Amino acid sequence: MRNCMSLNKTIAVLAGDGIGPEVMHQAVRVLEKLNQSEKLGLTLAYADVGGAAIDKYGEALPRKTLEICQTSCAILFGSVGGPKWECLPPEKQPERAALLPLRKHFQLYANLRPAKLYPELAHASPLRTDLAAKGFDILVVRELTGGIYFGQPKGIYTCENGEKKAVDTLVYHEHEIERISHVAFRAARARRKKLTLVDKANVLESSQLWRSIVRTLSTQYTDVMVDFLYVDNAAMQVIRRPWDFDVLLCENLFGDILSDELAAITGSIGMLPSASIADGSFGLYEPAGGSAPDIAGKDIANPIAQILSAAMLLRHSLGLEEQAAKIELAVDAVLKLGLRTADIWQEGTQLVTCSQMGSAIVDALEL
Ligand code: IPM
Ligand code: MG
Repeated sequence: MRNCMSLNKTIAVLAGDGIGPEVMHQAVRVLEKLNQSEKLGLTLAYADVGGAAIDKYGEALPRKTLEICQTSCAILFGSVGGPKWECLPPEKQPERAALLPLRKHFQLYANLRPAKLYPELAHASPLRTDLAAKGFDILVVRELTGGIYFGQPKGIYTCENGEKKAVDTLVYHEHEIERISHVAFRAARARRKKLTLVDKANVLESSQLWRSIVRTLSTQYTDVMVDFLYVDNAAMQVIRRPWDFDVLLCENLFGDILSDELAAITGSIGMLPSASIADGSFGLYEPAGGSAPDIAGKDIANPIAQILSAAMLLRHSLGLEEQAAKIELAVDAVLKLGLRTADIWQEGTQLVTCSQMGSAIVDALEL
């Protein structure tokens, strides 16, 4: 079926809404350049998703789009959503009708969100200068297909007395916790060998189960140091001493919240890629930031998160480590040259547009 490492080198390209298409265009230029110069044999298959698909076909995830994803080895995803579709019933809106079903359909249970402070961009971080100066490099490993996002029952009900009540269910099965914990342990092993489980074990039963499973598994990874933090405390500690953390393992909702907090302290959410992966090599790769409708169509968005997402795709889904590293080095190189999109600009650096940043990165691939 989807056997990437060998024959299938088709990448589904789903640009979506807002700034999605413009940042995706730059990522595609980078991929096409590498495809040509290194004869990678990649095929890009474009498909509509999100609000763009609602406008064209009346649904956020048309069957045709799903079919294209199914016959590809990975999905390069832009972003979905925007004010135009906010008047739709929630279950028809792009986020709940396209992104969540894609995650569930492909069992993309492991969401990897690196949050790294580039020394050149420390000025853009809201952290105090002396804290930012220490730098940090954290990987959030977020469970993505379970927990309160998907648990049943879910809905708004009317009680017998006519009062309404709303229900979301936080449920985790052992196997769901085990598989994501293995991903986190392996990631920690390849990094600085420290894993922090973020939970709310002082209140939630599900967190108790997470703790006991992580404790049990830790005996298989004796080289990895494990500790536990309540999520409220974690929200504090990651801004007080971010350099102390390596891998943060989180259930779905906690990971959603903490990964935005970490993105903010890196200085710009426009820099951060993410990978959502299934067992095997299939994955969906997307920028951590959203569709940013307020700046869409102005050619001022930062395309780096999308470009680095393409690098993660090459590395994880296609096993093209060398080419992935090439993209990352090209991004480092343009930052060193002082090129900055508006979100990361400061006095003394050169302000560039989204497409100029893309061009500079394409050129830097040759360095
Ligand atoms: C994210 C987003 C999504 C989530 C939304 C758009 C459904 O916030 O990927 O972090 O909550 O998972
Ligand atoms: Mg989020």
